Amino acid sequence: MGSSGLFHVIDTRQFDRPMLDRLCRLATHVRTLAKSRSGAQTLQRLAPNRRAMLYFTQPSTRTFLSFNSACHILGMQTSEIRNPSISSEVKGETFEDSIRTFSSYADIIIMRTPEGGKAARAAELMDSIPRPVPVINAGSGPDQHPTQALLDIYTLERSFEQRGGIDGSTIAMMGDLRRGRTVRSLSYLMKNYRDVRLRFVAPPGFEIKRDILDHLDEHGVEYASTSRLDDVMDDLDALYVTRLQEEYDEQNESENADYASYSIGPEQLRRFPSNAIIMHPLPRGPELDPGIDNDPRIMYWRQERNGMWMRVALLAAIFDLDGDLNVN
Ligand code: NCD
Repeated sequence: MGSSGLFHVIDTRQFDRPMLDRLCRLATHVRTLAKSRSGAQTLQRLAPNRRAMLYFTQPSTRTFLSFNSACHILGMQTSEIRNPSISSEVKGETFEDSIRTFSSYADIIIMRTPEGGKAARAAELMDSIPRPVPVINAGSGPDQHPTQALLDIYTLERSFEQRGGIDGSTIAMMGDLRRGRTVRSLSYLMKNYRDVRLRFVAPPGFEIKRDILDHLDEHGVEYASTSRLDDVMDDLDALYVTRLQEEYDEQNESENADYASYSIGPEQLRRFPSNAIIMHPLPRGPELDPGIDNDPRIMYWRQERNGMWMRVALLAAIFDLDGDLNVN
């Protein structure tokens, strides 16, 4: 581990406020640098000797592309497995042996799996071998998606810059909160901000799980739950919309869900506070009407871009490159 104190990135409970602030500063620094030719060259020269393994066995567009781009922005080389049917897993190789093999060729493993807990298992394995490499969780089933939460924090901080950042704000999360890993990871981070009020808006049967609420109770984060957006809309600074996570259905739960009231379109936007923002991790389903895409309050396209800069920042912090960038 370098002086940054960051090695594996597995679960958002591992982050404290100084680290979050540091990553946001770093993201802004690399974003600004990349705008000029000489700055982009500086970034390119930071890690040409480093190789990343992108192991994504669950569908991904944004997370994969932004990590891939982030590696290339730092001059890194990348290898990938996105389809386990062409890896030795089909010959019966264990998950542990596959991960250990990646660590023979790569300096970092970035991984997404449909099952929960796999990134944590990979990190544990690394901690038990002589030449461990960092593991980044790029989405582990329905449990965690820490790098999405980091880019969401960065987006919130940037959007609320004028009024002093996330401290003191009211943030609602809406949709399939029971199975949405982005909401889970982001909720955990809220304990790091002062006087944040969380509002959970979910259809019956899709409410946020007790473990998250227990965590918020333990850390004194104020929250309220409701099934109606109208109950909380007037006081919001941000609304984080999510899609129905159909891929985790056990018994066609999604088919029977009444999700129509958990969507945002021009009609809802007319009643939405004029200086509040709308976020969504994407991909969208019918809950986000493309008719609102040009409203200045929507942030989801900006979240995508912020994701790339935050992932550059994360790699730079893990490899301890911020000294070379003169940021602190
Ligand atoms: C999210 C995910 O994979 O959890 N997508 C993403 O990484 N931006 C959200 C989702 O799939 O609903």
